Amino acid sequence: MPTFIFNCLLVLYGLMGMPRLVAAEPLVIAHRGASGYLPEHTLESKVLAFAQGADFIEQDVVMTRDDHLVVIHDLTLERTTDVAALFPGRARADGSYYVIDFTLEELRQLAVSEGRRQDGQAAYPQRFPVGTSRFGVHTLEEELELIRGLEQSTGRRVGIYPELKSPWFHHQHGKDLASAVLRVLRDHGYRSAADAVFLQSFDHAELRRVHDELLPALGLDLPLVQLIAENEWRESYERGADGEWRPADHTWMRSAEGLRLLATVVDGVGPAFAMLLTDPLATTAHSNDFVRLAHDAGLLVHPYTFRRESAQLPPFADSLGTLLQYFLFDVGVDGVFTDFPDLAVQARNTR
Ligand code: G3P
Ligand code: CA
Repeated sequence: MPTFIFNCLLVLYGLMGMPRLVAAEPLVIAHRGASGYLPEHTLESKVLAFAQGADFIEQDVVMTRDDHLVVIHDLTLERTTDVAALFPGRARADGSYYVIDFTLEELRQLAVSEGRRQDGQAAYPQRFPVGTSRFGVHTLEEELELIRGLEQSTGRRVGIYPELKSPWFHHQHGKDLASAVLRVLRDHGYRSAADAVFLQSFDHAELRRVHDELLPALGLDLPLVQLIAENEWRESYERGADGEWRPADHTWMRSAEGLRLLATVVDGVGPAFAMLLTDPLATTAHSNDFVRLAHDAGLLVHPYTFRRESAQLPPFADSLGTLLQYFLFDVGVDGVFTDFPDLAVQARNTR
């Protein structure tokens, strides 16, 4: 990978016999694109992320009723689209409009905009105005083709960082999201770490299935990343021997033993950045031993999500730049998920 930022060394790391990917410098991962500037997961936000120098661009992936893979964060459509106006009557009993209930042709009729809160107001009032421009829903394949095109026209490589969004939910609906995503990645030339790709999910059972069954069956060797949530966020569910789906536990993933166990399946972990601090209220800049334990286990650490809005900054940080410099240089993470790739590149360049 000659021109690739990754400029990474693929190093065989002794611990637990796992290969570990060590980058020359911490990675800037564009969270849902340059989503601080343009509506998340639009092709426009991906182009801007590329132009701002992101090393990797994230794709959250959900499946449609007719089995297409679309790039969207939520399982539901109402936060970021005009679905309620276009398809009244298509909400489920809980009031939500699910991607999985719509065909791709229907989704293409929607206008995508900045996220709204439940009261309809902009979630981030300083960002791109809600509802003033017409952006669209696109497929994973369309985004990968866009990225290939940008790479060819600029001569600069950028990595991709797809997330299997709630595979457990897709299984509940008889859909195999992981297999479909892996086939698209393979068909677009993403086969191993050398192809600049990480595959992430909060769903540990599914990552284990990907590692143990799907990757070998497809002849792939993709680096995997376990996302770590607080249990109360209900990010993933697991099916018990009795066939019942129950919320999955994530607390074990933060211990030394848990991290060593994770390293038998994945190459990295993606915790919320607050999980790396001693004080859950983040009033002071003191990190705990998470990064050291993860590194000892041979795992990369890519925390999420760094945003510049003051409500998103911990009390000890007066700006996103300060916060990023602290995590990049003091805490020692291997990469950051951020809505503001330009500011992360800038922070990284301060040293
Ligand atoms: O995937 C890393 C980060 O994006 C996890 O949070 O909810 O934005 O997908 P979320
Ligand atoms: Ca994500």
